[in-house]
Amino acid sequence: MKMLQQIGDNIWIHDGATVSWYTMPYTTRMTVIRLNSGEIWIHSPAKISDELISDVNALGKVSYLVSPNKIHHLFMQEWMQQYPEAKSYAPPGLEEKRPDLHFDRALKDAPEPEWQEQIEQLIFKGSKVMEEVIFFHRESKTLIVTDLIENFHPDHFKGIKKLLAQMTGIISPNGKIWRMTFIGRKEAARDCLQTMINWQPDKIILAHGEWIQKNAVSFLKKSFHWLQ
Ligand SMILES: [Fe+2]
Repeated sequence: MKMLQQIGDNIWIHDGATVSWYTMPYTTRMTVIRLNSGEIWIHSPAKISDELISDVNALGKVSYLVSPNKIHHLFMQEWMQQYPEAKSYAPPGLEEKRPDLHFDRALKDAPEPEWQEQIEQLIFKGSKVMEEVIFFHRESKTLIVTDLIENFHPDHFKGIKKLLAQMTGIISPNGKIWRMTFIGRKEAARDCLQTMINWQPDKIILAHGEWIQKNAVSFLKKSFHWLQ
């Protein structure tokens, strides 16, 4: 198992290639969960490779492919082609943006029946630019976010990019980039944050930067102090 790192019971992460986003180097992270049925659930699929496929296949049958927000779709097509029998799930706004991709279902503000026994789900509301679907794996007490929280190490960016990252607030330990897009609509976001806190996560997986290995609730409260 070279490409996947197990971080709890029935949950793994894969740190994928760095992609460029408005010239900024963004590391990417995919999450893999094995459901009680033995089926494999994949969140924010990363660039596919033979090694990655073989590691994932060793865990079980890939049945669910989840794109968590409308800007995390770059590698969905590769995975849909690799696993034509898997069901694919679109977040708010993605089906309009990528009509060329065929999704089986639209993600809602509640867990899908296929995984509701193991995974909680909500749509994080209140941003003017994007609604991201958030998940919580009960067994490992892991919250799974994508762009909602970014947490880059202070040395990740250099020079002018570092300055830009600091200005937008994505550097650890207080990663947050979306603040501006919630102006005037904080109420809905506050409710979502409360639900996430009520889940009592230990860990937080995020797509970009360092993931949170412990004390997740206090990290959440710190990241969203501007919402309180
Ligand atoms: Fe992202």
